[in-house]
Amino acid sequence: MSSATDQPSSSDPAPWWRRGVVYQVYVRSFADADGDGTGDINGLRARLPYLQRLGIDAIWINPWYRSPLADGGYDVADYRSIEPRYGTIDDAERLIAEAHDHDIRVIADLVPNHTSDQHAWFREAVAAAPGDPVRDRYHIRDGRGPDGSQPPNDWSSVFGGPAWRRLPDGQWYLHLFAPEQPDLNWENEEVRREFDAVLRFWLDRNIDGFRIDVAHGLVKDMSFPDLGTAGVEILGTPREANHPHWDRDAIHEIVRRWRAVLDGYDGDRMMVAEAWVQPHRLPMYLRPDEYHQSFNFDFLEAPWDATTFRDIVSAATEAVVDIGSTSTWVLSNHDVMRELTRYGLPNGTNWRSWPTTGPAELLDVERGRPRARAAAMLLLGLPGSAYIYQGQELGLPEVWDLPVEVLDDPVWKRSGHTRKGRDGCRVPLPWAPDGPSLGFGDGPAWLPQPPDWAELSVEVQESDAGSSLVLYRTALELRRRWAMADEAMSFIDGLGPNGFGYRRGSGLACVVNFGETAIDLPDHQQILLSSGDTAADGTLAPDTAVWLR
Ligand code: GLC
Repeated sequence: MSSATDQPSSSDPAPWWRRGVVYQVYVRSFADADGDGTGDINGLRARLPYLQRLGIDAIWINPWYRSPLADGGYDVADYRSIEPRYGTIDDAERLIAEAHDHDIRVIADLVPNHTSDQHAWFREAVAAAPGDPVRDRYHIRDGRGPDGSQPPNDWSSVFGGPAWRRLPDGQWYLHLFAPEQPDLNWENEEVRREFDAVLRFWLDRNIDGFRIDVAHGLVKDMSFPDLGTAGVEILGTPREANHPHWDRDAIHEIVRRWRAVLDGYDGDRMMVAEAWVQPHRLPMYLRPDEYHQSFNFDFLEAPWDATTFRDIVSAATEAVVDIGSTSTWVLSNHDVMRELTRYGLPNGTNWRSWPTTGPAELLDVERGRPRARAAAMLLLGLPGSAYIYQGQELGLPEVWDLPVEVLDDPVWKRSGHTRKGRDGCRVPLPWAPDGPSLGFGDGPAWLPQPPDWAELSVEVQESDAGSSLVLYRTALELRRRWAMADEAMSFIDGLGPNGFGYRRGSGLACVVNFGETAIDLPDHQQILLSSGDTAADGTLAPDTAVWLR
């Protein structure tokens, strides 16, 4: 184990996460060192130079703990060991130390809302008799009806179907996600103590932070009222007031407890919340004794429209100023359709259901591609921190048409085949134009890559000045020089209904044209970077962004 002083140092006086760029590693699909078709920690270690050259400040690694992978590792069987398909605890420690040597911090993914059904606690609970205190670590209750054969209430799973499953002895347990993911009972002090210890376990191993999974979950209304489930959207999260299992006020006590644990360590350790809540509730998660950051999902879900982006950026930046935090921008992650494909669909299309409902002709990839490039510049110029999902820098599209036989996401089955789920954004990365899995590993990858991804591989993009990879690298380098050191921002007016632009205190301005016709650029000294062709006559082409000085 290495000591805390191994952490990267920085000459920027602000804590690194305030304006850091974090790269999300879906370890299963990043790089496969042992050739078994599944990405692993050693594959990631070998690619640290690539990440350093990209210019990011940290990586967030999706759950790497021992897991049956019933939900891609969000079903944790042991929070203190590594899934053997990904490596060992020694590999994880080496990765943390080597990332630090490359000036990259490491954020782990903590899953506190539920465990795997293979976790020792759940096995113990199942083996125990009703009423035994070990059952109280989960939500295990009698059913309704004269013989208890009806679930305790009408809640449904985020992945489809009822949120309760019956145990052999007749009681029922709650699973807001897959049945392999029983929900923990956060009223139970033993559960709280265990997670304090898990945080310490990883902090002692020099982890720099945690992404907290389902941060809007955890606390349930213990009277378990019916919800009236009509209209609940699979994979959607109802962001409504006073919900019996989302965004309950008592969550904040738990967050404060975790924060106190982190604050006991040196070196700017941080926590970022995955909290799908109403915009006006988000700042509560960011109070000085709670999370350091919380993803802005409104930004991710926004249609390609200037006014919508302006409103979201405006609301988000105002909301965080008062509490002394900064915004956390995100366009993509392992749960949503990749933005290139989203922006290639007409505004208003339900991109969660479109891969199954179609029609396929709605998609115009040639429209999505320039928009994704422009969105990258919009994202990276903003004050605050930005998250990049692996493959975003390569301009990968969603593989929305994966053959159904290879689908692995539990959503496909649980939704009764009405939702294809999230595999389309989890297809392994192409590193080279040839080989059995385009340089991902020495054998075929766990999900098939489209053959035309050879052209999108890292190796091909490295030597193409116009590639998405080079755009990201250049933007990240300019960001360090022009957009990091101050957090001031003001909007540029007079760009017309389809233009959105902002000016940073350092003198950098970003302008995006969301419309169908060129717009005039504001006065400037120099064009620092453009996502497409900028006309010499001082206009900005449709679906293009520029950074101006
Ligand atoms: C989060 C994760 C998602 C997972 C779910 C259940 O939303 O991002 O991938 O399926 O939690 O843990």
